[in-house]
Amino acid sequence: MGVTTTAAVILAAGKGTRMNSALPKVLHPLAEVPLLVRVVRLAQARSYSPIVVVIDADGDAIRMTLEAAFPGHKLTFAVQHEQRGTGDAMRVGLEAMPNRTRRVITLYGDVPLLRPATLERLEKIAEQHSLALLATELDQPAGYGRLIREDGRVLRVVEERDATPSERAIREVNVGVYHGDFGLFAEALDGIVADNDQNELYLTDVVALAAKQGSTCAVNVLDIEEVRGINTRSDLAQAEAVLRRRWVAEHQSRGVTFRDPESILIGEDVAIGRDSVIGAGVQLFGRVEIATDCRIEGPSVLRDVVVDSGTVVEAFSHLEGARLRKNVHVGPYARIRPGSDLGDRARVGNFVELKNTTLGAASKANHLSYLGDAHIDTGCNIGAGTITCNYDGVNKHTTAIESDVFVGSNTTLIAPLTLSSGSYVGAGSVVTQDVPSDALAIGRARQQNRLGYASQLRARSKKKDS
Ligand code: UD1
Ligand code: MG
Repeated sequence: MGVTTTAAVILAAGKGTRMNSALPKVLHPLAEVPLLVRVVRLAQARSYSPIVVVIDADGDAIRMTLEAAFPGHKLTFAVQHEQRGTGDAMRVGLEAMPNRTRRVITLYGDVPLLRPATLERLEKIAEQHSLALLATELDQPAGYGRLIREDGRVLRVVEERDATPSERAIREVNVGVYHGDFGLFAEALDGIVADNDQNELYLTDVVALAAKQGSTCAVNVLDIEEVRGINTRSDLAQAEAVLRRRWVAEHQSRGVTFRDPESILIGEDVAIGRDSVIGAGVQLFGRVEIATDCRIEGPSVLRDVVVDSGTVVEAFSHLEGARLRKNVHVGPYARIRPGSDLGDRARVGNFVELKNTTLGAASKANHLSYLGDAHIDTGCNIGAGTITCNYDGVNKHTTAIESDVFVGSNTTLIAPLTLSSGSYVGAGSVVTQDVPSDALAIGRARQQNRLGYASQLRARSKKKDS
């Protein structure tokens, strides 16, 4: 069968009632990605195969979420009909594995912060032992199983509820992640009984069996944040803060300034170039690429946005699915919607909305505009209050504005429409026909000045009053 790989069992059955949610606990998003998706990614990062996910009988939503998140990747689902404890869940998981499986690692759907490097350390040490497990020292170990050692050797794990007072004083805790022989797990779980305070089948029994048979070894997790499990909404928020701190630290080491790191929200698919500055309250989600020497002021939201070097986004801007090229200036209060592309040195100012619109190099739309489905070439000025009427109630139509066009303020552009290069549109126009190159279009009622008429009007209103 070639190289033997390690199989993974991810325990994810049970409701997670403390989340007080209609959504299963393991589907709650952590920095936008469901907890369980993060754990499956972790298993994939270590090339574990097969990956067996133990779910409960109501696990359809979990199954669908994972299948959507990992298209084309075969995940095995095993259903645990009754939540009888971690030992029982593991047994259900093992039953779904092929016979030739040699080594197995356990992961948890609600323990999403483990690093691949930590698992790699566990794998290395596990090579010499029938079972290796992750452990860590906690100042407040309450709730965790404690490691019982004799002459340094790990003998067994005792659950908090089953522990004697002196065992409870032990600060070294079981993380719950074991890397061991398939046969060892099978043997341990075959014989286990629910002989404990919780009337549950304890997976931890595998530790005692391994100790009896030969060798166990605990690998110390250095960063205690990694072992954090999620049970409540508060845990979820704290875990997100942990990820955020990790990612921010990576960006900082690559030369990015965060003026208030605690105030930002950030995902993992974010790249930021050297000497860029991220202000307070910035949210960077999805796939974001910010090049060097950019300044993003907050509060602003950028989702799936590519920003070239030297570009500035001022506060209160919302950008999604857009490309900003070099030395662009956006905001404050700008909204850039999907399909928009701003050329070098383009400027988009306050209360301007762009949707599926390209703005050529050095073109400007500085105030109060809606530009949708428009292709605006270089060197154009779009005056305040310009609106592209791109939608007739049924279809969307495009507006083409060629280079060096000047659109006066408060212009209504009824698409489909082309303003050819170098043309002018007088302020307040409603433009319904194409404008030829270098032409001036004026589409508004001509002003009339009636001399002396104002005083006549005033005199008339006075008479009415008396
Ligand atoms: C477990 C360990 C404990 C360890 C702790 C670390 C046991 C007996 N104890 O305790 O030593 O310190 O994790 O967090 O293993 N699950 C199922 N089916 C079940 C029961 C649980 O799938 O029938 C899943 C849960 O979804 C969860 C995981 O197993 O993801 C852990 O179960 P949990 O009840 O939280 O175990 P702990 O009591 O925390
Ligand atoms: Mg737990």
